[in-house]
Amino acid sequence: HKNGQTKETGNNLYLPIFPFREDLLRAITQHQILVIEGETGSGKTTQIPQYLMEDVRLHSRRNEIGCTQPRRVAAMSVAARVAEETGVKLGNEVGYSIRFEDCTSERTVLKYMTDGMLLREFLTEPDLASYSVVIIDEAHERTLHTDILFGLIKDIARFRSDLKVLVASATLDTERFSCFFDDAPVFRIPGRRFPVDIFYTKAPEADYLEACVVSVLQIHVTQAPGDCLVFLTGQEEIEACCEMLQERCRRLGSKIAELVVLPIYANLPSDMQAKIFSPTPPGARKVVVATNIAETSLTIDGIIYVIDPGFCKQKSYNARTGMDVFALSLPQASANQRAGRAGRVAAGKCFRLYTAWAFKHEMEETTIPEIQRTNLGNVVLLLKSLGINDLIHFDFMDPPPHETLVLALEQLYALGALNHLGELTKMGRRMAELPVDPMLSKMILASEQYKCSEEVLTIAAMLSVNNSIFYRPKDKVVHADNARMNFTVPGGDHLVLLNVYNQWVESGFSTQWCYENFIQFRSMRRARDVRDQLEGLMERIEVEVVSSLEDSVPIRKAITAGYFYHTARLSKGGYKTVKHQQTVYVHPNSSLFEEQPRWLIYHELVFTTKEFMRQVPMFVCDRDRQRLVAGSGSSLLQEQRAGGQQQQEDAPQTGQDQGRAGIEAQGGHGQ
Ligand code: CDP
Ligand code: MG
Repeated sequence: HKNGQTKETGNNLYLPIFPFREDLLRAITQHQILVIEGETGSGKTTQIPQYLMEDVRLHSRRNEIGCTQPRRVAAMSVAARVAEETGVKLGNEVGYSIRFEDCTSERTVLKYMTDGMLLREFLTEPDLASYSVVIIDEAHERTLHTDILFGLIKDIARFRSDLKVLVASATLDTERFSCFFDDAPVFRIPGRRFPVDIFYTKAPEADYLEACVVSVLQIHVTQAPGDCLVFLTGQEEIEACCEMLQERCRRLGSKIAELVVLPIYANLPSDMQAKIFSPTPPGARKVVVATNIAETSLTIDGIIYVIDPGFCKQKSYNARTGMDVFALSLPQASANQRAGRAGRVAAGKCFRLYTAWAFKHEMEETTIPEIQRTNLGNVVLLLKSLGINDLIHFDFMDPPPHETLVLALEQLYALGALNHLGELTKMGRRMAELPVDPMLSKMILASEQYKCSEEVLTIAAMLSVNNSIFYRPKDKVVHADNARMNFTVPGGDHLVLLNVYNQWVESGFSTQWCYENFIQFRSMRRARDVRDQLEGLMERIEVEVVSSLEDSVPIRKAITAGYFYHTARLSKGGYKTVKHQQTVYVHPNSSLFEEQPRWLIYHELVFTTKEFMRQVPMFVCDRDRQRLVAGSGSSLLQEQRAGGQQQQEDAPQTGQDQGRAGIEAQGGHGQ
């Protein structure tokens, strides 16, 4: 088979799927819906779509093959790989589509995309007429969007008999998929796995990051050749770990062999992402430090050692408090997938940085599907726009909790997206056109009324890259903090973000300017892309792009119109959220940390040790005494297990004296 001999995999690697090509194609011809089960790395994602492309029975050039991925990085990297294998330029016959980035053309036959993108395509094409095959890949991840796709695709398959549906999954849950799709047959690709020895720590680790670094170095010095894969929870941790590893290797100098340290996480630029797949130089050892993207979505060849601290960041929504919390946990099923990564090419070893007892007694068996632990506002708005009014009877594989559904409806009603009968309003229809959360789209639409769409678009774009705007290298903390302080303007963090962007525009989008001001150029470039995309959509929803000029009051009003659910009021030392009476705190990074306005609006809540509204910065007020507004926050991590949690590195930032706008708000905002 020609695909068995690609440059990078070398010729010794024979993917488990190759011998089944004909059987598989026959099964697909015979059945409309097929569930495909195979170990990670067997070739499901990269090979099956190629088989389909080459098969005239299954695929006419007029229609596309769509393959969904739960993660952006996976969609991009897999598309790049397949373009390379098939010898085409990425974006031509093989492309990808992720939010705010469309890398496809008229010639595209095979499109990798995030599950969220395919979901949005239902808005423009409710029967997915341009597809001949839809592959819902990584189905076992059970993301919210994948779950909704299950229901919608099962429905359209009934009247589109020409549509082929493939549900691909790692070896988990396949019986349930089959059962949901009216007993669709399951095609099993037999796996080849080498044994993996699992080691536990005797006692819990106090600092798992440090423990990871030490383990990698120990493996490097004492163990036979073979690459190493470390699982951490997010960008900050991964970067810290990579830095620590590099620093310690530098100190050991020529006493040890070369260690090639490579990070992989969602926001990593694609040229850097590609590096994890390049072959390890002779004599060296590669260590890939990854989020759980490397659990099943991406397969890196040559891994023999896996280090698993036993955490992943999982969002969970509390319908009672209306808060999204990122919890650290790891189900046993994921821990086992991680261990499996060590046994793909030879017998391997997995080092679990937790005790055998913790594995047995503290970890859940499997992941709770996202639909049961997330805010549904977005999806409810989308389903309503598709004309699906009766959400209670929607064909969910696992239905969401009733109260989350009700809360989503309530919130959409408050935002004016639904009327009192639960029907979509004109506002709701326009909101659904924007590929962002309902509160953010409401903010953007409200900017029309307040004549500040120019500024609000910028703020929306900056919020979407959040977190990664300011650069704070450890050795230049003071400079970085000073630079950041120079951007402070009265009125909170949203306005600070606006200020940063505007100054960057004035610099002519300069890289040098970013460098001098400790701003991450890549994040800014991404913000500009997002902004361009959003601006392009403004025409569609008929919002004129105008500037409020120097006046920040209209901007604050627009923000409030979207985020009034996120109002908090100063109370004994902290803040209390208006809607749920939760005690929260302004993050030390916020421009409002010192100021402590009586009222503020946050963007997101982030949990660390304290319930911070991180980056919550902005607040404001309305001179007409009607209502006021402020701040932005960001996502957060709640510490679940004792110890082991990395501290926020951000030190408190001293605020500047700024004239306090007298905030006079009236009590909690009704709807
Ligand atoms: O989807 P599944 O987990 O079954 O496998 P796959 O993603 O199709 O991977 C098949 C093979 O392609 C593995 O050996 C990967 O290491 C390789 N691959 C690669 O080298 N570079 C990529 N960007 C993607 C896959
Ligand atoms: Mg795959």
